[in-house]
Parts: sequence; C-alpha cells; structure tokens
Amino acid sequence: MKQQKAIVLEHDNFQGEYRILRLAAPAIGPLVKPGQFLHLQIPHLGDRILRRPFSIYKACDEGVAILYKPVGRGTESMVPLQTGDTVDIVGPLGNGYPQMKEDSLPVLVAGGYGNAALYLKAKELPVKGVAFFGGRTAEDILCVEEFKDLGWDVRPTTNDGSLGIEGLVTDAFDPWMKEQDINKLELFVCGPGPMLKAMGDRAIEHDFTAWLSLDENMVCGVGACLTCVIKRKTEDGWEWARCCKDGPVFESREILWED
Ligand SMILES: Cc1cc2nc3c(=O)[nH]c(=O)nc-3n(C[C@H](O)[C@H](O)[C@H](O)COP(=O)(O)OP(=O)(O)OC[C@H]3O[C@@H](n4cnc5c(N)ncnc54)[C@H](O)[C@@H]3O)c2cc1C
Ligand code: FES
Repeated sequence: MKQQKAIVLEHDNFQGEYRILRLAAPAIGPLVKPGQFLHLQIPHLGDRILRRPFSIYKACDEGVAILYKPVGRGTESMVPLQTGDTVDIVGPLGNGYPQMKEDSLPVLVAGGYGNAALYLKAKELPVKGVAFFGGRTAEDILCVEEFKDLGWDVRPTTNDGSLGIEGLVTDAFDPWMKEQDINKLELFVCGPGPMLKAMGDRAIEHDFTAWLSLDENMVCGVGACLTCVIKRKTEDGWEWARCCKDGPVFESREILWED
C-alpha cells in the first residue's frame, strides 16, 4: 500500500452518468491486483476530509483508472477535476479476487461500477466463460465491448429491456445455471447488495464457489476504525471481519448476512 499525489491525466464522460478518471500513479499502478480499490481524498470538499473508496478499473506501471458515478457530495465534488490537477490517493487496498481453482468454469456477475471492478480479473482469468451483467438501463451496463474483446460471452439484462433480456441478472443466470456442471462454477461478483446476496444464496444452495466483493461504507480504509465490519462465520459461531482489510472480497459461505 502506498500513498501518493496523483496527477489527473484524463477525466471525461464515459457512459451515461459514469465518468472515467485516469491518474498518473507510478507508486501504486504496478502493485494492483484485480479486485483491489483506491481510497481517494476528494479535493474541493472543504470541511470533509474523509476519503472515498473506488475499485480499480485499469492499472499499469504508470498509473490507474477508475469509473465512477456522481451520487453524493463526495463524488459530485470530483466532477470539476481537470487534467493536470492533483489528487491524493492511497492504494492498492483490500485483498482482491483470489486465483481461480483448477478445472473451474469462471463466471462474472456484475452491475454498475461492478463491471469496472471486474475488468482486471476478466483479463487475468485463464479461461473466459460467461459474463452476466445487470442494470436498470443500457447505460448502467459498462464496458460490454471490452469484455467481449477479452473473449467473454456477455449476457446483459436490464430492468427496462433496453439491452439484453428484460429483468434481473438472475433471470438470465438461473436457466443457464441449470444446464451447467454446477459444482464447477466459480463466480466472481461485484454489484449492488441484493445482487451479491442473490448470487451468494445460489452458491450455497447449489454448492458452488462465489467470490463476492462487498460494498460497505468505509472511513479509514486500512482496518483501523471498524466502520466497515461484517459478520464472518467461524467453526463455532461468527467473528467481525473488516471489508476494507479482510475483504472486500469474501467467499459466499463465509458471510453471515444481516436481515
Ligand atoms: C470497495 C468499494 C469500491 C467502490 N468502487 C466504486 C467505483 O468503482 N465506482 C463508483 O462510482 N463507486 C464506487 N464505490 C462507491 C463509492 O465509494 C460511493 O459512490 C461514494 O462513497 C459515495 O460518496 P458520496 O460522498 O458521493 O455520496 P454520499 O454522500 O456518501 O452518499 C450520497 C447518497 O448516494 C447514495 N450512494 C452512495 N453510494 C452509492 C452508489 N454506489 N450508488 C448509488 N447510490 C449511492 C447514498 O446511499 C446516499 O443516499 C465503491 C465503494 C466501495 C466500498
Ligand atoms: S474502513 Fe476503517 S476498518 Fe474498514
């Protein structure tokens, strides 16, 4: 993990409300593993000093890129950033996705910025399987062509039917799953809470592996403040686990979901 002042190389509209922020960060870029995140200090935010977490979409020796959607005070304050500005970032943080097991059939399941969070994993995986992407509209399904170019069989679903099947990601996944050698499935998932829970429940019910990247509110991002804790199962009960440091990626069977 490193902290560095990163120079903005590109900051532009990407798709729909999503924006791309590309940063020169040679201390951090080479260290990145798929599924890790950055903690970014929002400039121009006056009284607020908290950082915001962002999954790393792309990384190279020279730097990193994130895709983000302005949803609140912090992310909206990022919109005026211009090429040449400096932002303070800490990263890469979190555990990231593990290596795929031998003989698995890898499956990606994502929505919104989850697509960006899975891109490096999609690139790294030695076998390219099926990618189920869900969103409210076509604008929420990011990077489809990039995943196709990597060799993934992309199956989008949208709530309004503007891209792919009309419905939820599970409407595409469930019938497909029934035709597979289910125990061989290994899911890599990043998306909204209900999507994570739905895929985690299926993994437990049908006994396959699903790696879920949890999106908990974070403050310190490095394991010190306990803002981001979840309950992780142990042999004789449960223990607290920190999403920022012990996660954000957990195997579905580890998680004790709160009602
Ligand atoms: C590990 C991790 C990785 C993340 N990666 C990304 C990423 O790659 N790209 C990205 O855009 N965001 C990502 N996020 C979420 C991002 O950190 C939040 O969008 C940001 O913290 C919101 O800060 P804010 O001050 O703008 O909004 P806040 O003022 O904190 O929230 C404003 C409102 O927006 C809602 N809100 C917060 N987050 C979201 C969201 N993601 N979608 C919809 N509504 C939301 C809140 O519930 C609240 O009502 C990630 C979060 C985590 C924990
Ligand atoms: S955000 Fe502080 S412990 Fe995770």
